[in-house]
Amino acid sequence: MPENLLKGKVGIITGALDENSIAWKTALKAKEQGAKFVLTNAPIAMRMGAINELAQECNTIVIPADATSLEDLEKLYTEAKEYLGGNFDFLLHSIGMSPNIRKGRSYGDLNYDWAMKSYDVSAISFHKMMHVAEKMDIMNEWGSIMGLSYIAAQRVYPFYTDMADAKALLESIARGYGYRYGKLKKVRVNTISQSPTKTTAGTGIGGFDTFYNFADKMSPLGNASAEACADYIITMFSDLTRYVTMQNLFHDGGYSFTGISEDLMEGLTGE
Ligand SMILES: NC(=O)c1ccc[n+]([C@@H]2O[C@H](COP(=O)([O-])OP(=O)(O)OC[C@H]3O[C@@H](n4cnc5c(N)ncnc54)[C@H](O)[C@@H]3O)[C@@H](O)[C@H]2O)c1
Repeated sequence: MPENLLKGKVGIITGALDENSIAWKTALKAKEQGAKFVLTNAPIAMRMGAINELAQECNTIVIPADATSLEDLEKLYTEAKEYLGGNFDFLLHSIGMSPNIRKGRSYGDLNYDWAMKSYDVSAISFHKMMHVAEKMDIMNEWGSIMGLSYIAAQRVYPFYTDMADAKALLESIARGYGYRYGKLKKVRVNTISQSPTKTTAGTGIGGFDTFYNFADKMSPLGNASAEACADYIITMFSDLTRYVTMQNLFHDGGYSFTGISEDLMEGLTGE
């Protein structure tokens, strides 16, 4: 393993809910690689308490913020800057939630108020994070901003309902803001499209176990774990990827470019 890839780098990590979270693994690796950062999550997630243990392990603090609130984001950046002693080199958006999925509504029967909530929490908050960052000018040049996506942005996964649309929007925002922030400040913006992963957000989706197993059999390398995703995020925060921007980067063991796998064919030839 390379060492100190993030030495001297400072940032913010959203979305660590419990030890399965992609953001949780990322925080541990960022610490291991020499970064200084603060953790943040929605006030409601804070009540579950686990994030405080992570903060202790990472020798940092937790600043509650609802990522859909511009005021909360301003407060987050102000307090984080004060604690960390300067502007930021990286921001991780690791946030997703759909009330329609939680309540089992099908794609043809969406509650539109909830759909707006899904888009706001899972996608527009990414725009808001960058909008407030730009307004407060809190990113350092050559900084890196990452969001997490899923291949349902490109292909139909019936049970992913309004989250598919949210992910398509998230990826579009990465392109739109990536251009803008690149021009303004040489800041890069990308999303990682991750394999199905056994986290709270992941397993909340109907049929998760089936498409987890399907993806695993379809991918020549098998599903990428949350830990491997964290490794990828660390490289994207490092100086080794300074000219990668406006991309949706598949981190899925080869799933996205496999038409069919021998493993899956074996299960289908029944005569
Ligand atoms: N798990 C998967 O299968 C999978 C696959 C591809 C992409 N992703 C994406 O990875 C990201 C992280 O999810 P995860 O799988 O680690 O699950 P997770 O449930 O551990 O993390 C989701 C986080 O979003 C936070 N959140 C929800 N509403 C918020 C708000 N208003 N403000 C701030 N934070 C809020 C939650 O508190 C939680 O910490 C999400 O964008 C998710 O869609 C997950």
